[in-house]
Amino acid sequence: MRLSRYFLPVLKETPAEAQIASHRYMLRAGMIKQASAGIYSWLPLGWRVLKRIEDIVHQEQQRAGHIPMLMPTIQSADLWRESGRYDAYGPEMLRITDRHDRDMLFGPTNEEMITDIFRSHVSSYRDLPLTLYHIQWKFRDEVRPRFGVMRGREFYMKDGYNFDVDRDAALHAYNRHMVTYLRSYERMGLKAIPMRADSGPIGGDNTHEFLLLADTGESEVFYDSAILELELGDRAIDFDSVEQCQAICDEWTAPYARTDETHDPALFDQVPEDRRRQSRGIEVGQIFYFGTKYSEAMGARVTNKDGEVVPVHMGSHGIGVSRLVGAIIEANHDDKGIIWPEQVTPFHCGIVNLRQGDGDCDAACERIEAALVERGLDPLYDDRDTRAGGKFATMDLIGLPWRITVGPRGLQNGVVELTSRRTGESEEVSIDAAIDRIGQIYAAA
Ligand SMILES: Nc1ncnc2c1ncn2[C@@H]1O[C@H](COP(=O)(O)OP(=O)(O)OP(=O)(O)O)[C@@H](O)[C@H]1O
Ligand SMILES: [Mg+2]
Repeated sequence: MRLSRYFLPVLKETPAEAQIASHRYMLRAGMIKQASAGIYSWLPLGWRVLKRIEDIVHQEQQRAGHIPMLMPTIQSADLWRESGRYDAYGPEMLRITDRHDRDMLFGPTNEEMITDIFRSHVSSYRDLPLTLYHIQWKFRDEVRPRFGVMRGREFYMKDGYNFDVDRDAALHAYNRHMVTYLRSYERMGLKAIPMRADSGPIGGDNTHEFLLLADTGESEVFYDSAILELELGDRAIDFDSVEQCQAICDEWTAPYARTDETHDPALFDQVPEDRRRQSRGIEVGQIFYFGTKYSEAMGARVTNKDGEVVPVHMGSHGIGVSRLVGAIIEANHDDKGIIWPEQVTPFHCGIVNLRQGDGDCDAACERIEAALVERGLDPLYDDRDTRAGGKFATMDLIGLPWRITVGPRGLQNGVVELTSRRTGESEEVSIDAAIDRIGQIYAAA
C-alpha cells in the first residue's frame, strides 16, 4: 500500500475527549471515528487490526472443532420472552418496534437464538457434542460508554455456544474453550490471565474471565505472579482429549488469580509474599458453563444413550474482539504512539523514503515493497513528498513494528536503515538483508 493513495486521517492534536492512551491513539492514528456515543466507524487502519484479531479467533476456534456461522443482529422479542430475559435484561437492551408494531431488539448476546436453532434441528445425543459460534456486532446500551472501543455500545464479539448431553461433557467443552482462549491471546502477543469470576444468580463456579493487565483496566485484580510464567507455546493439543484439556486448565487455574468480585484475602495470604500482585485488568473474554438454564426454559432436549429425553447442557463463551484492539494498545504503547505486536499489526513493515522523487531512492523503495509483497507481507510505503520528521512521527504513531528507511546517503554505501519500533534500535544493512530479516521475523511470528 502506498500512503499517498491510502486513507489515513492522522490527527495532530490530542482529542480532548479521550482519557486513556488507546482511545487517544486510535483517534490520532485515524483508526476509528466516533459516529455517536459508544458507536464507531472503523477506518481502514483500524479495520485491518480488527480483521487480524478476528482471523486469529476464527483459526483457534476451528482448530478445536468449533463451527462458525452467522446470526443476525436484530432479534425478535418473542424468544427472549420464552427465556424470561426480555424483562430481566433491563435498559441495556436496545428495544426496537418495526412497522407492524412487532417488538424487536438489537442483540446484546445470542443464547436464545442459538437455543432456538438447536431445538429446531437436534434431538439425539448422536449429534453431540456440538459447538457453534459467530463473530457479530452486539449492542448494549451502556450507561457510560467510555474509553473508545473498550466500552462501546456497539461492539464486535465472538460468542460461542456448546451443546452437550450431560454435565461432564459440557465441562470438557468448558475446558476446551479455556484452552482455545489461552491459545488465541497468546497468538495475539498477549498475556491474558484466567480469573475465577462471579457466576451471579446462576451459581456454580464454572466461569472464568480473562484479564489483560493494564493500569487503565476497570477491574481490580489479585494474582500470584507465577501465572505470568505459564506459556502454551507450540505444544500439540488434542482438543478431544479430556485429560489433556483438563491438565492445561489445572495448570492455569492453580496459581491464585481473582478479580475483586471473587477475591478471598485469606486464600491470597497463602501465596508467597514476594509473588503476591495487585493491579488493574481489562476483561477481554469470559467463559461460562450454565447447565440447563436455557434448554429447560426453551425446551431444547435430546434423547440420551438410555433413550431418556433430557435437557441439553450448555455454556456460552465470549471474546471481546473490538475491545481487544484497544486493550492491545493499552498494553503496547509509549509516548510516541502505538507499538503493535507482530501478530496483529495492520501492516508488517513501514517503508520511509527520505527523498521522494530521487530516482535511486524511489527505485530502492519500490524494490523493497515488491519483495515484501512477494513474501506475502503487507508493507506500507510512505511515498509522500513531505519532510522526514513528519514521516517518522506518523510511523511511530501508527506503530508498525518495523521500519525500513531509504535515503540517498545510505544508498551510496549500499545500505538502508532497519528500525525496531519497540526498542528504537536501528541497524544499517543491505537492501537484501533488510528484506530477509523482515521475512524471517514474520515467518516466525
Ligand atoms: N460494552 C462493551 N464494549 C466492548 N466490549 C465489550 C463490551 N461489553 C462486553 N465486551 C466484551 O465482550 C466479552 C464477552 O461479553 P460479556 O457478556 O462477558 O461482557 P461483560 O462481562 O458484561 O463485560 P463488562 O463486565 O466489561 O461489562 C467481554 O469479556 C468483553 O471483552
Ligand atoms: Mg464478562
